Amino acid sequence: MDQYCVLGNPVEHSKSPWIHARFAQLTGQQLEYGKQLIALDGFDAAIEAFRAAGGKGCNITVPFKFQAAPLATTLTERARLAQACNTLRFDAGGAVYADNTDGVGLVNDIQGNAGVTIAGCELLLIGAGGAAAGVLGPLVEARPKRIVVTNRTLDKAQSLVERHAALAREHGVGLSAAALDEVGGPFDIVVNATASSLSGAGIPVADGVLKPGTLAVDMMYGPAADGFMAWARAHGAVPRDGLGMLVEQAAEAFQVFRGVRPPSARVLAELRAGLD
Ligand code: ATR
Repeated sequence: MDQYCVLGNPVEHSKSPWIHARFAQLTGQQLEYGKQLIALDGFDAAIEAFRAAGGKGCNITVPFKFQAAPLATTLTERARLAQACNTLRFDAGGAVYADNTDGVGLVNDIQGNAGVTIAGCELLLIGAGGAAAGVLGPLVEARPKRIVVTNRTLDKAQSLVERHAALAREHGVGLSAAALDEVGGPFDIVVNATASSLSGAGIPVADGVLKPGTLAVDMMYGPAADGFMAWARAHGAVPRDGLGMLVEQAAEAFQVFRGVRPPSARVLAELRAGLD
């Protein structure tokens, strides 16, 4: 049977094996999907071993997403812009197709699952690390009116914006960087791509970025998203955690692997029900 896996460190609590197994079941695809904990200095060797054993593809999680691009024979434009890959497909003749499905996963969750159209919106992206870089390109391609990227370290937000400037022009999107205390607002959609909750820090932006009905998405899920979601709720916004993005990025990866679209909304509902 075709073999896939998620590689990471840590990887123990990854939900990807469950999600992909469920996708396979619901689409009638014959595959096995496991998980592999790999040593911090063992990424290239682990990929090579998995490929040599007949592996057809893998997902890559923390902290290896930045190490995959050099292995690619084809690197998608969205992975190039993100400077990170979360999906590798091993094709005939040693070809390696490398992609990043995180951004399209977020967009599909916002539009498909939360039912909010991004086109024409004012959008705030908080953060300029790997998580933010992974989603900015697809957010631009969804054609909001404007995206402001804000970050504690402003020059990181500025370089992220610079890297996406041509794409933003092409799609008619106003893209700019602003310091945390100068973002203005309110916004229709606020996306939290920072790790501030993990360090126990508060919400890094002013309450004025929200208005009643703002969709406020934290890219994390579980307890790590609780603080942001409670803040959003307290200001009349609609809170949303990152579980939908997790399932949707997996759905896009499944399509890359198998050429088949899985029923992601159903699997998200099942996953949520299982976690409650
Ligand atoms: P990830 O891959 O999860 O994005 P990262 O690349 O280390 O991880 O980026 C972490 C993000 O969270 C950055 O935007 C970081 O801000 P800096 O670039 O200024 O470091 C942000 N972050 C982390 N802790 C924060 C805090 N206490 N307050 C505000 N932002 C924080």
